[in-house]
Amino acid sequence: MVKILNFGSLNIDYVYTMDQIVTPGETQASLKRGVFPGGKGLNQSVACARAGAAVWHAGALGQGDCSVLTDVLEDAGVHTEFLKAHDVPPGHTVIQVDRSGQNCIILYGGANQSLRRDEIDDTLAHFGAGDVMLLQNEVNELGYLIECGFKRGLKICFNLSPFKKELLDLPLERCALLAVNEVEASGITGLSAQSRPEDLINALASRFKDSCVVLTLGTRGSVVKPSGERAEYFGCYRVKAVDTTGSGDTYTGFLVHALASGAKVRAAMKEAACAAAISVTRPGAACSIPSREEVIASELFNGPEPVFG
Ligand SMILES: Nc1ncnc2c1ncn2[C@@H]1O[C@H](COP(=O)(O)OP(=O)(O)O)[C@@H](O)[C@H]1O
Ligand SMILES: [Mg+2]
Repeated sequence: MVKILNFGSLNIDYVYTMDQIVTPGETQASLKRGVFPGGKGLNQSVACARAGAAVWHAGALGQGDCSVLTDVLEDAGVHTEFLKAHDVPPGHTVIQVDRSGQNCIILYGGANQSLRRDEIDDTLAHFGAGDVMLLQNEVNELGYLIECGFKRGLKICFNLSPFKKELLDLPLERCALLAVNEVEASGITGLSAQSRPEDLINALASRFKDSCVVLTLGTRGSVVKPSGERAEYFGCYRVKAVDTTGSGDTYTGFLVHALASGAKVRAAMKEAACAAAISVTRPGAACSIPSREEVIASELFNGPEPVFG
């Protein structure tokens, strides 16, 4: 079985239901508050585990009760022995959602930005050639993680999300797989996010020649171009979307697991797109991710392939 080590964020999401999103200078009582596990790192660990991988989530929890984070990982079967407890606030978000579903989000990195090199070294010592290291842009020390992981022979899969220009200064050529959505692709290539998918993927592939490039395009579908091979295009399954939070994380987790297990590119994309489509039909992020068994048995998976575009 593939071993996946995800050095990723863990966020406590505090979601406040508001009549209207608060404006500058205003104080408003919220109608309801919910507390949920979140963070791209945590979501992708859960997705990989639900897809069937053996997953270790490495990262840092903060002060206070973080059981909302560890519970969801452990329920999904993610190994948590490399999680550190740091004496800083946990990563968290403060999210306002109004009656129309509009939201605004404050992200506080907290413990996710407190990863230490000595702790990274200790964790990496448990992994070696052929294992996968998964990364997103919500933790610190990404350059160090890439260099050390590469030296140990790990296959590095990096979801460049959320995108910042500084990411382009990292040794991305060491990554076996780079995953972006259309907005991130636009940030990297300078092309518009609405550009033709072939233009976006070609621009990405010519920049990252030695990596497999993954481009997701929301309801337009996804494109995967392995280094030196032609691009594969896969459509988006038509479903009634209830909550699209975490669709990209679900897609990435399933795709990384399938490719690392030796699946053909199109087969991996089909599983990933189907898992993501099922996840958007349910509220929540991590809790909405289906298991691989559910994906394979679903009507979507066994029905006609969606058309790209
Ligand atoms: N409304 C939707 N219905 C069905 N599948 C969806 C929907 N939104 C996204 N997906 C699937 O999830 C994948 C990733 O979504 P995308 O929006 O591109 O990622 P991100 O969340 O990173 O922006 C898409 O390629 C598609 O297969
Ligand atoms: Mg999107």
